[in-house]
Amino acid sequence: MERTYLLKGQEETRRAAEKLAQSLTPGDVVCLYGELGAGKTTFCQGALKALGVKERVTSPTFTILQQYQGKDFPVYHFDVYRVHDPEELFEIGFEECMEGRRGVCFVEWAGLVEELLPENAIRVFLSYEEDGEEGRVMRVVYPGD
Ligand SMILES: Nc1ncnc2c1ncn2[C@@H]1O[C@H](COP(=O)(O)OP(=O)(O)O)[C@@H](O)[C@H]1O
Ligand SMILES: [Mg+2]
Repeated sequence: MERTYLLKGQEETRRAAEKLAQSLTPGDVVCLYGELGAGKTTFCQGALKALGVKERVTSPTFTILQQYQGKDFPVYHFDVYRVHDPEELFEIGFEECMEGRRGVCFVEWAGLVEELLPENAIRVFLSYEEDGEEGRVMRVVYPGD
C-alpha cells in the first residue's frame, strides 16, 4: 500500500502524522526520509501527540535518541543525522528498540542507516513541493508494497 499526500502547511503535516499514528502498535518502526526542513520533526510531533506523549518534541540531534512514555507504550524518537559509526547506535540500544517490540520507533534521517532498519518498517518520504510552493509532499510506503 503506497499513498501520496500534498500537505499545505505544518498543521497538515501534523494532522497526517496523527492519523497515521492512530494505527501504530508496539513493534512498529516509522522511518522518515527527506532533506533538512522537509518536515520530519513536524511529523514526529504530530505522531507522538497522537500516541499520548505530553512533552514538547524536538529533534534529538545531539542525543540521537529521546525516549517518551505514550499513553499505552513507550515511544523511541531517533535522529541519526550525526551518527558516523553504526557502533554508536548499538551503544544506545537502537537494535533493542527496533526488535524489542516494547514500543513504537521513529527514525529521522533513516536513509543514513538504511542497512540497520527492519524490512517491515513503515517508510515516510517527505519533500518540498515543486514550483516554489510552500507545502510538502508526503509519500507513505507500508511494508509489503
Ligand atoms: N506541510 C508543510 N508546509 C509548509 N511548511 C511545513 C510543512 N510541514 C512542516 N513545515 C515547516 O518546515 C520547517 C522544518 O520542519 P522540520 O519538521 O523541523 O523539518 P526536518 O525535521 O525534516 O528538518 C518547520 O518550520 C515546519 O513548520
Ligand atoms: Mg528534524
